[in-house]
Amino acid sequence: MTTTMDRANKYIFRTYARFPLTLVRGKGCRVWDENGKEYLDFVGGIAVCALGHSSEVVTRALKEQSETLVHVSNLYYTRPQTELAQMLVENSFADKVFFCNSGAEANEAAIKLARRYANEKFGEKRNTILSMVNSFHGRTMATLSATGQSKIQMGYDPLLKGFKFALFNDLENMEKALDDSVCAVIVEPIQGEGGVVCPDPDYLKGVRKLCDERKTLLIFDEVQVGVGRTGRLFAHEHFGVTPDIMTLAKALGNGLPIGAMLATDELAQVFGPGSHASTFGGTPLVTAVSVAVLKSILEDGWLANCRDMGAYMRQCFEGLAEKYGFIKDIRGLGLIIGVELDRPCAPIVDACMHEGILINCAHDTVLRFLPPLIVTRKEIDVLIATLDKVFDQTK
Ligand SMILES: Cc1ncc(COP(=O)(O)O)c(C=O)c1O
Repeated sequence: MTTTMDRANKYIFRTYARFPLTLVRGKGCRVWDENGKEYLDFVGGIAVCALGHSSEVVTRALKEQSETLVHVSNLYYTRPQTELAQMLVENSFADKVFFCNSGAEANEAAIKLARRYANEKFGEKRNTILSMVNSFHGRTMATLSATGQSKIQMGYDPLLKGFKFALFNDLENMEKALDDSVCAVIVEPIQGEGGVVCPDPDYLKGVRKLCDERKTLLIFDEVQVGVGRTGRLFAHEHFGVTPDIMTLAKALGNGLPIGAMLATDELAQVFGPGSHASTFGGTPLVTAVSVAVLKSILEDGWLANCRDMGAYMRQCFEGLAEKYGFIKDIRGLGLIIGVELDRPCAPIVDACMHEGILINCAHDTVLRFLPPLIVTRKEIDVLIATLDKVFDQTK
């Protein structure tokens, strides 16, 4: 009999190096494979499942809205989309929201908005997007051109024109790169795919100041770290700065595909009817779920849980670091934590999977932990005991 894995390998592009695991069910921070084996999930669908798997909040909203109105296109107003936009605006620096379906699309929208604004205000020569080395912004042609990792760009030449790079956490380097051609700087407040690299305490403030001095727009890509992941609704809130544009996706739909670009009114007014669009962007179905997810994150104590559990997890990792010299660094904020090793992570990820714990690597040597925001102390204790066992075997 052929397995799901065999058939998937036969019929689906092999763009992912998948683990040999077919998952069939999930509840909270747990998932089960087709043989009934249980796993604790510290990947969380790569920072997507903030409220965990089969969340009642999501299921209820999905059921109610699917029985009411699923899709009508953006030729019409719908209540859930309007409600979600209002919630995002009332809880952020922004005045307006554009909806799409993924993180890459949200960044595409941000790049287009920044260029259009600069074109109207300063003329067509001001069109360069300054991005960071080691960043990740997506896989479309524009967003991979904005991504500061050659392994992601390899084989796709010609890349799009109008992108250049500066070193993350290096204001002097950014200052040099900020010439008159730059219309916007795009930064992840914490580099997620790049290995959970955090900004130095005053770095983002310094970036804001440089952007203000040069009248350059500032885009925060909060696709991975936004919507509660760091213990605040948006990661930049920790650093006392606001951007001109912010992009979101991942946790905003808890697994339903949604992306959003938020901006101030001054910028939003350069997009009129026909400037940008998306057939599926912000359907009533997806936005009704997002409204429920956002309400739960804001009102059910999950931000506080994220901060508390994040601090607890870090403390546990520090305990492990005292025991295992191959742990080089522990980084992160809230429940995005990277543990850098002096060796490749893949064998440890595999061994943890064998023991019933799902984790993954960002870069080859950083173990990345992105559990649902509802994770408990008990579940973290199981993770730590398992890591202790696995680390001991790999010493
Ligand atoms: C910071 C950041 N931006 C953009 C993206 C792309 O998002 P998507 O895969 O939804 O297109 C990701 C995905 O990991 C991300 O981490």
